[in-house]
Amino acid sequence: MAGGPVIRSDKVLERFNRAAPSYDREALLQRAMAWRLAQLSRRCSIPRGLWADLGSGTGHLAAALEAAHVGQRVIRLDGSAAMLNSHPRGTRTLRHDLSSGLPDWPEPPQLLVSSFVLHWLPDPVLQLRRWVDALPKGGWLALAVPIDGSFPQWHQAARDAGQVCTALTMPVREHLMAALPDGTVQRDECLTFTQRAASPLRLLQPMSSIGASVTNGGRLSPGQWKAVFRAWPQADASPRSALTRFALTWRMWVLMVKR
Ligand SMILES: C[S@@+](CC[C@H](N)C(=O)[O-])C[C@H]1O[C@@H](n2cnc3c(N)ncnc32)[C@H](O)[C@@H]1O
Repeated sequence: MAGGPVIRSDKVLERFNRAAPSYDREALLQRAMAWRLAQLSRRCSIPRGLWADLGSGTGHLAAALEAAHVGQRVIRLDGSAAMLNSHPRGTRTLRHDLSSGLPDWPEPPQLLVSSFVLHWLPDPVLQLRRWVDALPKGGWLALAVPIDGSFPQWHQAARDAGQVCTALTMPVREHLMAALPDGTVQRDECLTFTQRAASPLRLLQPMSSIGASVTNGGRLSPGQWKAVFRAWPQADASPRSALTRFALTWRMWVLMVKR
């Protein structure tokens, strides 16, 4: 990982609390990832029992899993009360801060899933190891997390403008891989998703709206931000592409583990 101070979980959770009402409207990439993980889970024979969505947010992934595995319920676990309050009646929710590890469940989880969460936790490598260690033999983990190599356009703009890149430091895939016991990885793929907009500001705004704007990368003054935005590379400079001129690429790691 490119380093950077650890961010405090209470700060992260406070921001997600504030963003909960607008989360669903803006979290398009998160929705797409949730659907993909749920589809992948259909191909695995996952034992029924305790299934949990770690950092469920408003519950895209838990809902997609329940739709894909009729009759199976998924616990929605999150540290943000506001995120959990938005879940429909009758769903099982649990407020818990994952930075201190998993809850003490009366039975081991047969499936742990998590999407767009691990990078918010202190020491993602340690957390990943804890999650895998909590599984019984035959239990599964399905994970999606942005990794190092995300946001090349932002890093380039900051470099060219002579400013620091204030994007959150993302975990390094190889470091995460090293935390996994031999012979347990069933799927390991890196996907790229590129979002496009009329301006760099528009590209970054959804991160604020969904509460994902806490960073360990430092702060810029308005003037420094302007310099970064001016230096943002144009993905397409033709006059017809005004609405999609600027791009932001996420590098996502999708992992399926079976103990
Ligand atoms: C970007 S959202 C992803 C939500 C959901 N998984 C999805 O894909 O839509 C990150 C979620 O992680 C939760 N989260 C962040 N840090 C956490 C922590 N330390 N403990 C528990 N939940 C946490 C936030 O409250 C938020 O709901």
